[in-house]
Amino acid sequence: MDLKKEILKRRTFAVISHPDAGKTTLTEKLLLFGGAIHVAGAVKSNKIKKTATSDWMEIEKQRGISVATSVMGFDYNDYKINILDTPGHQDFAEDTFRTLTAVDSVIVVVDVAKGVETQTRRLMEVCRMRNTPVMVFVNKLDREGKDPFEILDELEEELQINVRPLSWPIDMGDRFRGVYNIYRNSLDLYKPSKQVVTESVHHDIESPELEEHISADLAGKLRGEVELITEVYPEFNRDEYLAGKLAPVFFGSALNNFGVKELLDCFVEIAPSPRKIEAVERVVEPLEEDFTGFIFKIHANMDPNHRSRLAFVKVCSGKFERNVNYKHVRFNRMMKFSSPTAFMAQKKEILDEAYAGDIVGLPDTGNFKIGDTLTSGEELHFKGLPSFSPEMFKYIENADPLKSKQLQKGVEQLMDEGVAQLFTNQFNGRKIIGTVGQLQFEVIEYRLLHEYGAQCRWQPIQLYKACWIESDDKEQLDDFKKRKYQYMAKDKQGRDVFLAESNYILMMAQQDFKNIRFHFSSEY
Ligand code: G4P
Repeated sequence: MDLKKEILKRRTFAVISHPDAGKTTLTEKLLLFGGAIHVAGAVKSNKIKKTATSDWMEIEKQRGISVATSVMGFDYNDYKINILDTPGHQDFAEDTFRTLTAVDSVIVVVDVAKGVETQTRRLMEVCRMRNTPVMVFVNKLDREGKDPFEILDELEEELQINVRPLSWPIDMGDRFRGVYNIYRNSLDLYKPSKQVVTESVHHDIESPELEEHISADLAGKLRGEVELITEVYPEFNRDEYLAGKLAPVFFGSALNNFGVKELLDCFVEIAPSPRKIEAVERVVEPLEEDFTGFIFKIHANMDPNHRSRLAFVKVCSGKFERNVNYKHVRFNRMMKFSSPTAFMAQKKEILDEAYAGDIVGLPDTGNFKIGDTLTSGEELHFKGLPSFSPEMFKYIENADPLKSKQLQKGVEQLMDEGVAQLFTNQFNGRKIIGTVGQLQFEVIEYRLLHEYGAQCRWQPIQLYKACWIESDDKEQLDDFKKRKYQYMAKDKQGRDVFLAESNYILMMAQQDFKNIRFHFSSEY
C-alpha cells in the first residue's frame, strides 16, 4: 500500500553537537550526497558568533538563516530524508530540546581532539529521556586527536550509552590513511584533497592484499585493533540501537567529505522509520490511516510588516493533505490549510500531501502554540514537549504606557512560540520572564519593539530556580503555598510554580515538605 511504503522510507533526524565540532559541515556534505545542493558552502553556519551576544543584526541573521535551513528534506536512493536543524547557540537550547521531540533518531558529531563536550552531554540527556536512537560520527580525523579507544570509553562514560564502532580509523592527522568499514568489510582509503576521493577496496581484513594499500605496520596494527574491537564490543545489534541503548560509531572527516557516505549509507539502512508516539490518551502508530501531528516549533517571519508566523508540524501518523479539514484540538475547531509548506533542500514550496515523519510548515496568524495537536477529528493530546526550569529571571515591565496592549500581546505570542517562559507572581502580580541565557532577553526586547511596537524594561530579580510543584497531600500543599505566598507563581497553563531564591532555600523546602514533589521540567 502507498501509505505504508511512503512512511517506511522516511528518515527524520537531527544532527547535534557542541558548537564547532562540525555539525554544519557534516549536514552540508549529507545534502551534497543527496543531490539537494551542488556546491560546498551553500549551507551557511547558523551559529551566532560567540562574541556577538548583543549584536542585533547577528540575531536577525540567525533567524533568517535558520528559517531557511530549519528542515532540509531530500531523496536519497529509495529514502526520503528530513534533517532538522538545531540552533548551535546554547542560549537557544530549549529550542533544540523541542526539535528533538520531532525526530526519530539523531547523529551526534564529536570532535576527535575535544571528545565529548558540555552541549553534547546536555543534548544526549534529552535523547536518553526519549530513548532516541543515536549514531556517533567522530570528526576531524585529518587532525591529531585522542586515541580512538579513549574516545569510545569517553562516549560510553559521558553519554551513558553502549557503543559499537562500525568503522575504524587508520592513524590520524598527517598520517591519516583512511578507515576500515567494519559494517561492510571494506577498506576506504583517504587521499587528502578537497575533492571526494574515497577509494573503496572490498576485502576481508585478513586478506594479504591489505598490505598493497597500507604499510605492513599499519595493516598489522589495524588487524590487531579490529580483533580487539570484536573481542571487547558485542556484535552490533540493531534492536539495541533502535531502543536507544547502543550507539554505532563512525570515524571520518566531514570537511574532507571522508567517511560521510559510509555513515549515510549505513544510516538509511539501520535508522528507524517514523516511530510510534505517545499521546495522553493512547499510543499513536505512524502507519495509522488517520492524520495526526503536533506543533514543535513556531517561527516568526522576518518581515516586520506582515506579522506572520510559520508553525512547524511533525506528522505523526497517516497522511496530511492540503485543503482538508483537520481538528485543532485545543480550540476544538476544524481548520484547513491552503498553503502548507514543504521543506525540500533549502527551498520552501507548497505541498499537496505529506506523510508521517515529514515536517509541514503552516502559515499562522496566532492560532498555534508549541505542543498543539492536530488530528483528523480525534480528541488527542501529544505529550513530550517539556519546558525546563529556566536559569535566568527578570521582571518584565512596560516602558511605554500607551502601548500596554501591544506589550501584552507580544509577550503572549512570544511565549507561545516558546522563546522563553512567563511566570506571574501570585503575591504582587508581577510578570517574570525565565530563560536559559542572556541572549533570549535581548531577542525578546528587540522583537517586542520591532514586531509589536512595544517597549519593555527589565528589572532584576534574585532567583535560583523556578520549579513546578504538586502533591497528593492537599493540606501540606496548601500549607506550603500559604507559607511561601510571596514566592508562589503560576505558569502560562496556570500551574503552581515555586520561585526558589537559592539552592539552600530549595533544599530546605524539599526537606520540610516531604509530601510535595518539586519538578525541574514541566512534564511530570
Ligand atoms: P558546527 O556547525 O558544529 O558549529 O561546526 P562547523 O561545521 O561550522 O565546523 C567548525 C569548524 O570546524 C569549521 O572551521 C570547519 O571548517 C571545521 N571542520 C569541520 N569538519 C572538519 C574536519 O573534518 N576537519 C577539519 N580539520 N576541520 C573541520 P572554521 O575555521 O571555524 O570555519 P570555516 O571558516 O572553515 O567555515
